[in-house]
Amino acid sequence: MVKVRAGAPSDNFFLDGNFSPVDEERDAESLEVIGIIPEDLAGHFLRIGPNPVHVFSEEAYHTFDGDGMIHAIEFGKGAPRYRNRWVKNEGFQIEQAQGDWVYKGLNSMLDPTPSRVPEGAPPGKNLANTAFAYHNKTLYALHEGSPPTVIDLPTLDTVGPTHFDGKLSHPFTAHPKVDQRTGEMMTYGYSFAEPYVKYSVIDKQGELVHTTPITISKPVFMHDFAVSETHTVFLDFPITLDIERAMSGGPALDFEPEHGSRIGVMPRYGNDADVRWFEVETGVVVHTANAWDDGDEVVLHASRSKNADIAGAGTSEGNNLAENQGKLYEWRINLKTGKVTERTLSDTPCDFTRVNDTYACYPTQYAYAGVFNPTRPFTFDGVMKYDNKTGETTVFKYGEHRHGGEAVFAPSTAAAAEDDGYLISFVHDEVANQSECVILNAKDVAAGPVATIKMPFRVPYGFHAGWVGAD
Ligand SMILES: [Fe+2]
Repeated sequence: MVKVRAGAPSDNFFLDGNFSPVDEERDAESLEVIGIIPEDLAGHFLRIGPNPVHVFSEEAYHTFDGDGMIHAIEFGKGAPRYRNRWVKNEGFQIEQAQGDWVYKGLNSMLDPTPSRVPEGAPPGKNLANTAFAYHNKTLYALHEGSPPTVIDLPTLDTVGPTHFDGKLSHPFTAHPKVDQRTGEMMTYGYSFAEPYVKYSVIDKQGELVHTTPITISKPVFMHDFAVSETHTVFLDFPITLDIERAMSGGPALDFEPEHGSRIGVMPRYGNDADVRWFEVETGVVVHTANAWDDGDEVVLHASRSKNADIAGAGTSEGNNLAENQGKLYEWRINLKTGKVTERTLSDTPCDFTRVNDTYACYPTQYAYAGVFNPTRPFTFDGVMKYDNKTGETTVFKYGEHRHGGEAVFAPSTAAAAEDDGYLISFVHDEVANQSECVILNAKDVAAGPVATIKMPFRVPYGFHAGWVGAD
């Protein structure tokens, strides 16, 4: 019914302004740079997000439904180079061939309009629109209901989904964890059907070597998890998935505080029976920052909010942003005594928490995150660095009418310390309608950008960013 008009205004928050998609794939060199691109920055800055082409209904479109598009800037080979490409999985190709919508989307699952999905085609789109993982020299674009999609670098061509030689038996989170010291990648997937969660380990050669179901009482929106050197940490938190609720006119996904909140801790190669569950204060976690072992304790850092409005994707009437926006939070789970201590680490509302990925699964002193705009949902107006030793939060705000996305940590090619590197994100000036790539020195976030690239084309707001360092 609807081909989204890129850049056109929309009554749907997620199709309006700089949430609106772009309608072309482009390549650009000779980019205008303000400041100096650091010489010790070499690799690919990547950002992925929903960039819908055909939608069933503009009104009912949900931001989780958009076709994945990657925007990339390559650094370290002379002047920076930009490229953007759709992820072209089968569902996308079917809609391209039809020239219209085929898949209806999250908010229209119960719409009586007959399905257009051809016989033999996948029942849902592998949108690959959410986040990246880089493991075994392979870049994956991820979508938590689907298997990972292999993407070629630097072309951004879609190689296609992988099931790890047929061994992957579950959906694949958008936030797997790579332990760079051992080379293992830990992942899981959740679903409506039992077992609601399954977990796998993929070894450093890319072979899936371990899978176990994880029993929870009811399906939940388990968007992220965490891994320490010895343990894997699952979050059974109360954004529940309820088909019956949906059939009776309610949201399929909703905040259900009576479900409670539990953290499950299991050895890296453990099985279902090895999971120890710890009751914690009820809240909502969308993204973790990191976990690590500290003596008898497993330490978990994540952005946690009191409440959530996932069904309305943050745009519902009466939406209470102060309660829905997360803050950096710590749980210390003592595996010897069974005691959990928890506390808020920083008062700055934030999400899209990241660490220097080189240190993932091991103690980190610093966490980085997007700083929420307190008055508009799904909008980051700055970036922060939290120092775990001093408890200090340092913030850089992008400026009036300027909003950014996830800032990824790109280590310096000469990195010696954890924060030797740069925070890179796309920022959009909504008055000038100008997108920029902003590069901050992670050692001095408050100082503002060391370099800003004026993007020759608009880069819509998206989901997660990634960094793949040069070999
Ligand atoms: Fe995410």
